[in-house]
Amino acid sequence: MKKIICKNEAEIAEISAAMIAEQIFIKRESVIGLATGSTPEGLYRKLGEMCKNGDLDFSGVRTFNLDEYYPIKKSSDQSYDYFMWDRLFSHINIERENVHIPNGECADPAEECIAYEQKIASAGGIDIQVLGIGVNGHIGFNEPEAELKMDTHLTGLTPSTIEANSRFFSSVGEVPTKALTMGMGTIMKARSIIMLITGEHKAAITEKIFSGVVTTDVPASFLNLHPNVTVLLDEAAAAKLK
Ligand code: GLP
Repeated sequence: MKKIICKNEAEIAEISAAMIAEQIFIKRESVIGLATGSTPEGLYRKLGEMCKNGDLDFSGVRTFNLDEYYPIKKSSDQSYDYFMWDRLFSHINIERENVHIPNGECADPAEECIAYEQKIASAGGIDIQVLGIGVNGHIGFNEPEAELKMDTHLTGLTPSTIEANSRFFSSVGEVPTKALTMGMGTIMKARSIIMLITGEHKAAITEKIFSGVVTTDVPASFLNLHPNVTVLLDEAAAAKLK
């Protein structure tokens, strides 16, 4: 994994947006994998600005989000669907039919997951995937477990993830306990990956992913096996690296 230590979040947003822009310049109809969470918000703001200034054109781009709570209404302001439209899609010239987010309202999650994998495959696979990381090392909602799943699936959330994500809900009890998520295989098949890590609270997990060990206890450690991963991190997240 290539790592770039940045001065601050603004520099991370700047560099990651430039990487996405380069991908779209090379291939107008790029397939981009997207993440939610606080970390990519700066990147999304920057992409919105570039599009508004006429420096970036999303009209041919197709996107696939990593995950969504289950069950959840799209209209709920805690849904990842709502987050993505609010932070990014409403600010860029993307076609609605080119946006894909696992459907937290679906009646049959198993069917939804199979269909989601098929849609990614028929788009030709993901060219560039944006990732954040959970404090427990999860990517998407692939939580630390003895076995990790390859494909998009319905998963249970760990107590630590429910706790970490409760800041977006009025109480811990309101956080959904399940989610639909791309699997480890779905993520690892992306042709390139940009992982964004910021903050002191991510320093311990950052140290683990760069420790040279691959383990299902830290799902993000599998990114060490991918040939094209760039990790953009701020100084606080990089504090424990040698
Ligand atoms: C969520 C998402 C992840 C995200 C992580 C980190 O649980 N499922 O895709 O990477 O949280 O979020 P944050 O960037 O807010 O720390």
